[in-house]
Amino acid sequence: MNTSDIMNLALEMSGLDKLPDDSEIYVQGDNIKKVLFSIDVNDADIMLAKNLGYDAVINHHPLASVTKAYNVFKDNVNLMVNAGVPEEAAKNAVHEKFEAAKISSQSQNYDKVVSVARLLNMPLMNIHQPLDEIGRSIMQNTVDNALKRNPNSTLKDITDALYTIPEFKRARTNIRILLGSGDTPAGRVYVSHGAYTNGGYDIANACFESGINTVIYIHISYADYKKLKSESKGNLIVTGHIASDCVGINPFIEKLRQHKIEVTGINGII
Ligand SMILES: [Fe+2]
Ligand SMILES: [Fe+2]
Repeated sequence: MNTSDIMNLALEMSGLDKLPDDSEIYVQGDNIKKVLFSIDVNDADIMLAKNLGYDAVINHHPLASVTKAYNVFKDNVNLMVNAGVPEEAAKNAVHEKFEAAKISSQSQNYDKVVSVARLLNMPLMNIHQPLDEIGRSIMQNTVDNALKRNPNSTLKDITDALYTIPEFKRARTNIRILLGSGDTPAGRVYVSHGAYTNGGYDIANACFESGINTVIYIHISYADYKKLKSESKGNLIVTGHIASDCVGINPFIEKLRQHKIEVTGINGII
């Protein structure tokens, strides 16, 4: 496989029909047999890959694609609409954080790791939204199945269902009920993940105001959490960033192995 074949495999698995703005091939490579897979690769890791004879490095989070990755945040609108949030409310909820991400994207040194890979001629790519989409659908399906088995599921039942996913069992972080308590009825549950970064206050608030009772984020800032807590409009479960990223990454690594590619996970692959 070459780097394009690998990217296409990720797109196919995720059901996305085009390459999103947060995923990119930076240094192309052919005949890839041995991959170093990371979540937050740095330049020393690129050197390590070279020294240990890897054919390519795949990173999860955006590298040079940070300059345009914020566009993916708008995909929250479709995800929310599919979950029953009115389109206008969904668009309004996305607006401010999109603008903030767009402005802060100017501040990043986008070439740091990529320039090292170029110099060492180490094939390098990052795959973000496709893998998060795989993880999102696994998490949402797990929640939906729990609610199908028991429509009166509590937040503890939802958390227990999520813990059947092996990455959450393995992680050093816990799944936390941040708003609500274990015996609170979960009601309608929406996993908000897979569109660049967490939706913060605005997206959770729009969900609550649209009749969704429980929002699941993989992480949230303390300021956004406090604001949601002060209004207590709904429940919030946070599953942990790295564990949740791995829920989507590991099935893809498994697929690469089925294609006879040797994969070593570092830097957050649990
Ligand atoms: Fe992710
Ligand atoms: Fe992430």
